Amino acid sequence: MSGAPGPDRYAVVGHPVGHSRSPFIHGEYARATGQAMLYGRLDVAPAAFDAAVRAFFADGGRGLNVTVPHKQAAFALVDVVTPRAARAGAVNTIRQRADGSLEGDNTDGVGLVTDLTANLGLRLAGARILILGAGGATRGALGPLLACGPARLTVANRTPARAVELARAFADLGPVEGCGYDAVDTGPWDLIVNATSASLAGTTPPIAAGVIGAGSVCYDMAYARDDTPFTRLARERGAKAAHMGWGMLVEQAAEAFWLWRGVRPATGAVLAALLHGA
Ligand code: ATR
Repeated sequence: MSGAPGPDRYAVVGHPVGHSRSPFIHGEYARATGQAMLYGRLDVAPAAFDAAVRAFFADGGRGLNVTVPHKQAAFALVDVVTPRAARAGAVNTIRQRADGSLEGDNTDGVGLVTDLTANLGLRLAGARILILGAGGATRGALGPLLACGPARLTVANRTPARAVELARAFADLGPVEGCGYDAVDTGPWDLIVNATSASLAGTTPPIAAGVIGAGSVCYDMAYARDDTPFTRLARERGAKAAHMGWGMLVEQAAEAFWLWRGVRPATGAVLAALLHGA
């Protein structure tokens, strides 16, 4: 059965999803680019994920963004994945192809890199990069970061074996190594990215005092109204700059929008609105 004619329908699926800024972001992109589309929220518990996604597309839905905790379930559900989603082992964007099959992509890593380079003006070629955490967020970021040609990229994690394993899985793409927090040297690090979920618990990864230097730009993939525990720590320790992941959020959305609509929205106004509390 296909849905009633009208604007093309999209949604973000998560659990919970009430806090998601994706409807605002995609609504602004649609308005600015003149695309006739609706973008909603689907709050779906893990046990109901597959059925809800299939029902959405069977009813004429055109695309989904996938957020916590469903990115791996989405990877398993789709018919085909893009190379970058295959590397990430996770899907954050689904689109239905002309033959009805579902394609899974991952725009998180490119969203991070676009924010770092285009919005924040960082040069990642030759940079010394430290990533904190070895979960799904790091897995999604490693391919796009290594593609920029850093001089070194270290993944540090509370469970060191996960970091070592992840580094091994990406070693063909560049100079990446994994270790525990106590083995992180003082770099110096040009960029330190927090990809742990420690912020959710109101805490920060236990990195030694000298790791964040005066030349370190610190970036938390998490975002909050004012500060996250990690951006606060970065400032206290004299980092060169401390950024939250609002830019990554709008850039991964722009990449998804482009996949769906073939139009690349400008992100500056939406990012500014979010930074000012929209
Ligand atoms: P995500 O998809 O958000 O990356 P995940 O795969 O569950 O979620 O990974 C969460 C990451 O945050 C892991 O690197 C985890 O460390 P472990 O692998 O040792 O579990 C890290 N993490 C979560 N809470 C943390 C905390 N309080 N301190 C430090 N690291 C934490």
